[in-house]
Amino acid sequence: MQITFAEPSWPKSGALVVAVLAERKLTETAKALDEKSRGALRRAMAASRFTGAKGQWLEILAPAGLDAERVLLRGLGKGEEADAAAFEAMGGEAARRLALSGVERLAIVCDAVPGAKPGLAECAARIAYGVRLGSYRFDKYRTTRKADQKPSLAQVIVQVKGAAAAKRAYGPLDKVADGVFFTRDLVTEPANVLYPASLAKECRKLEKLGVKVEILGEAQMRRLGMGALLGVGQGSERESQLVVMQWQGAAKSHKPVAFVGKGVCFDTGGISIKPAAGMEEMKWDMGGAGTVIGLMQALAGRRAKVNVVGVVGLVENMPSGTAQRPGDVVTSLSGQTIEVLNTDAEGRLVLADALWYTQDRFKPRFMVDLATLTGAIIVTLGHEYAGLFANDDELAQRLATAGGLEGEKLWRLPMGEAYDRQIDSPIADVQNIGSGRTAGSITAAQFLQRFVNKVPWAHLDIAGTAWSKKATPTVPKGATGFGVRLLDRLVATHYEGK
Ligand code: BES
Ligand code: MN
Ligand code: ZN
Repeated sequence: MQITFAEPSWPKSGALVVAVLAERKLTETAKALDEKSRGALRRAMAASRFTGAKGQWLEILAPAGLDAERVLLRGLGKGEEADAAAFEAMGGEAARRLALSGVERLAIVCDAVPGAKPGLAECAARIAYGVRLGSYRFDKYRTTRKADQKPSLAQVIVQVKGAAAAKRAYGPLDKVADGVFFTRDLVTEPANVLYPASLAKECRKLEKLGVKVEILGEAQMRRLGMGALLGVGQGSERESQLVVMQWQGAAKSHKPVAFVGKGVCFDTGGISIKPAAGMEEMKWDMGGAGTVIGLMQALAGRRAKVNVVGVVGLVENMPSGTAQRPGDVVTSLSGQTIEVLNTDAEGRLVLADALWYTQDRFKPRFMVDLATLTGAIIVTLGHEYAGLFANDDELAQRLATAGGLEGEKLWRLPMGEAYDRQIDSPIADVQNIGSGRTAGSITAAQFLQRFVNKVPWAHLDIAGTAWSKKATPTVPKGATGFGVRLLDRLVATHYEGK
């Protein structure tokens, strides 16, 4: 789909979206349209419950006196309610409503809204951003759809006074959307297509943006001593991989920020095997890695002025004659030994080595890891918030704030000594599950913390947010790309050029 910006003009065909404010207060273009159509808009509103409240839609087909084939009124509510998210939702919903409608061309008018927080150019850019994010589709494996089931909408024009400024404001957002789409694509791919080596190969695509990509195979990881990560992959026919991505957008002397992702390309549970029902969902157990890869794309794509490291541990957790057994003891890169009491608690084993490697090699300003780590986080927070754990209040606060602004919400959960005692092993340094059945997400975070030294660190448990069964204006069903926007914002606000 093509998204462009233009100065306002009357479209000769297609659909037209205009905003209406609370209590049926018409925006400038809505007023002009109403006059041109001799009152069609006001009559349609009077015949319906549409009041212009935030989120409402009213669709007018073949309005008399206008060339547009349909006019859609979108309620924006009171001016003060019109924030960046409201404009994104307006764009996203417009595109989603019309995607399969037969309409090919859509013009969305961005009029000045008195009281709106963002400036006019930013409002228009956010509309375009919403259009792009909301129109994501994964159609690669559909081969037999009839023409009338395929998307019709091919062109969206955001009409705004000062189109050039709007286009400039949209530039970096478009790059972040590229990153979100890359993440969604990777997370949606099935595990017969996307396995550690093929996912590592996908990372190589970032090289054309200037990202340095190194891929470590099993032999190299064995030499380094990554017994925790390798133990998880040892039951699989597919070779485990560790991918290190580096974006240098600032002087070499600047310490990098670091992101680390769990990349379990498929999680059967291993010998501690999962039940059959729903197991297909475990193709997206590489969601943390997917987010880190998409984030690298976003940051490099918009040429962020910061040094960034992305590390992803890629494995497949399978049961087989070579798989690790419950009770096995492995030696991690840190030197600490781990008693593997449950082979389904594998993500933390992968991250143990990836985190240690990252802090040891790069001495980063901070590390944030992302992982679809525990079913327990879904019990705790549902699908609304991701779990946030941290050893540093400032980093935690910055993450939570960035998440709130980008609609990717985080809720901080506690950590502490008493939880840590629950993962003491009787025969090794640590065990990979808690001794009781309680606080599963917290004991998982405590486990990770044993592999983090003094560096500021945060862990995002995205098991509840990486995949969605219901669509929102900017996030279609399926892979969400959760975390790309949030972390891009974190970097932009606090670490770029600093
Ligand atoms: N990948 C799962 C967690 C998960 C569950 C993600 C549901 C998304 C949806 C993880 O590897 C796992 O299996 N965790 C276990 C840990 C347990 C054995 C301590 C879990 O949550 O049941
Ligand atoms: Mn598991
Ligand atoms: Zn897993």
